[in-house]
Amino acid sequence: LNYLTAVDRQSIADILTQGLKRLEYRGYDSAGLAIDGESDKEVLIFKEVGKVASLQKLIQEQSSIDWTKTFTSHCGMAHTRWATHGQPSRINSHPHRSDPKNEFTVVHNGIITNYRELRLVLEKKGYTFESDTDTEAIAKLAKYIWDSQKGNKTLTFTDLVKGVVKELEGAFAMIFKSVHFPNEIVATRRGSPLLIGVKTPKKLKVDFVDVEFGGIAEEIPAEVEGAPTTFSSLEVPKLRRSESRAFLSEDGLPQQIEYFLASDPSAVVEHTKTVLYLLDDDIANIREGELRIHRLRRDDGISSIRSIQTLEIELAEIMKGSFDHFMQKEIYEQPESVVNTMRGRVNFDTHKVTLGGLKTYLPTIRRCRRIVFIACGTSYHSALATRAIFEELTEIPVSTELASDFLDRKTPIFRDDVCVFISQSGETADTILAMRYCLERGALCVGVTNTVGSSISRESHCGVHINAGPEIGVASTKAYTSQFIALVMIAIQLSEDRTSMTDRRNEIIDGLHALPGHIKEVLAIDQELQRLARDVLHKEKSLLIMGRGFQHATCLEGALKIKEVSYMHSEGILAGELKHGPLALVDENMPVILIMTRDSLYPKVRSALEQVTARKGQPIIICNKGDDAINAESKTIRIPQTVDCLQGLLTIVPLQLLSYHLACLAGVDVDFPRNLAKSVTVE
Ligand code: G6P
Repeated sequence: LNYLTAVDRQSIADILTQGLKRLEYRGYDSAGLAIDGESDKEVLIFKEVGKVASLQKLIQEQSSIDWTKTFTSHCGMAHTRWATHGQPSRINSHPHRSDPKNEFTVVHNGIITNYRELRLVLEKKGYTFESDTDTEAIAKLAKYIWDSQKGNKTLTFTDLVKGVVKELEGAFAMIFKSVHFPNEIVATRRGSPLLIGVKTPKKLKVDFVDVEFGGIAEEIPAEVEGAPTTFSSLEVPKLRRSESRAFLSEDGLPQQIEYFLASDPSAVVEHTKTVLYLLDDDIANIREGELRIHRLRRDDGISSIRSIQTLEIELAEIMKGSFDHFMQKEIYEQPESVVNTMRGRVNFDTHKVTLGGLKTYLPTIRRCRRIVFIACGTSYHSALATRAIFEELTEIPVSTELASDFLDRKTPIFRDDVCVFISQSGETADTILAMRYCLERGALCVGVTNTVGSSISRESHCGVHINAGPEIGVASTKAYTSQFIALVMIAIQLSEDRTSMTDRRNEIIDGLHALPGHIKEVLAIDQELQRLARDVLHKEKSLLIMGRGFQHATCLEGALKIKEVSYMHSEGILAGELKHGPLALVDENMPVILIMTRDSLYPKVRSALEQVTARKGQPIIICNKGDDAINAESKTIRIPQTVDCLQGLLTIVPLQLLSYHLACLAGVDVDFPRNLAKSVTVE
């Protein structure tokens, strides 16, 4: 929304589609946008299946529209979709509308769990649905409230949205636009992230107002038989509106100002680094250059004043640079990203670790009964990878939980538990819900995330940011190694009062010191791995990855990478379980990778190797450089040796590279593998 200066329609569409491109990694089956038509009583909607580029093409083809028309104040909205309800299609993509005249348009991220009931009621009232989505019910509901309030001149857009939100169950971040409220945007969230970037040439005089509303009352029973829901009738709100304005320049005059609302800072960072994050049940209204934040319910005790933050990511950081894909760039960034995780925290001279985000909580954590690691996907693997060293250093029992299963089981959690939530995005719905579950039960909640300002970093009691820099590729790579290090650092700091562990801690810290150089050594064998992918593995249907102890997590994570980006079936196998089933898969044709690095379990892994070769398997062995005990005829991937508990930081790198090359050979859109999204903000 641009206030005071003129901007042409083409530029508005470009800003919106450019923002979508930055969000494409979150989901990418279709995209759409809504902008003003010839009069401010008309809204135009464009939608297309596929990537944002297809939408841009569609827009370019609209020759009947005057793209040079200028606006001094305008609000547009756009959305890139990753299907949850309804197939990817033009009709199912956002923005959704209330009616063919586009009276209300909505973009939404999340899931409305009671949409079937809402739809049923609205259909019975005569509203016709055109899509299979949950979101459409929101737009129709807005129109229903508008229609039922016809003639109510005091009805504001904010009140109308409040009325809508009160009927919704589930998770949402959404933005509303309406021909009835030209040049006005209302945005709200519950459970899904939403931020507002503010761009203005002058210094901001921030004067947020806490406006109180009378609001909505009186539930009326649904008129439709069998409808399990009721609608609220909208009472004329009693306003006590403050006269102060949200954004004024120093001389007291309204200033030129643009607002950017997005689910993710990467969409706004090229315009502004000044942002504020909305909280659940905030309703933001932007009109005539002013931003006001209201609360859904009066008396919920939460102020509507939000602090302004400055984003720290640079646009260059989210660009691909000279690499072909973000995934490749992120794998290659690891020698630096691991340093960034440790920067200012690990002192290699004094062998001390200091994590500012945990400081005051260390005594509580040391006293706890158990530690529970909770995460999804790759983040869960980082928990598995570090569990053993965590237990060894802290002597506290550690369990690892997949967030979805943790919730399904309604796991008992107590006040003296410490729950650690690991999430690159900090926005994974399952992980957030698990955290809220633990918060309710009084456990200490620690966040380990890559995203400052994310739900997990805001709602946890304390935590560690992994500082790996933005990760765009859907398949997580550098976040894994940084999460791994963050968890090792936590374990070291927790154990600093145990003198019996001093030597072990020192050994690990020395290993961390050498790590960037070691990762570079592994990256140097990339061509070898590319050949292996091309000549040996590319045409295969399946790949087993075996190992044990510290390497079990690498097997699972390596197999996940291969599945995610190359679509080849792959399975990570605990070598100790081989004889209990997976051995039946092994013959001379089954591709196997065996991780056999030098640690205390080496003899046991050797016996797994013998079991495999006895069945004519010819495994590719990931082993340490200079390990002469490995048969010279075996295919090997040789990597530097480090401390046992850090070895997984090096064994994962060749598997990341291998999966990347397999994906390129398979012709997969590496950064956007089918059916997957970077940040899964729905359950
Ligand atoms: C999705 C991504 C994975 C990621 C997982 C957990 O499935 O595709 O790469 O590991 O979510 O995400 P989080 O942001 O919580 O680490």
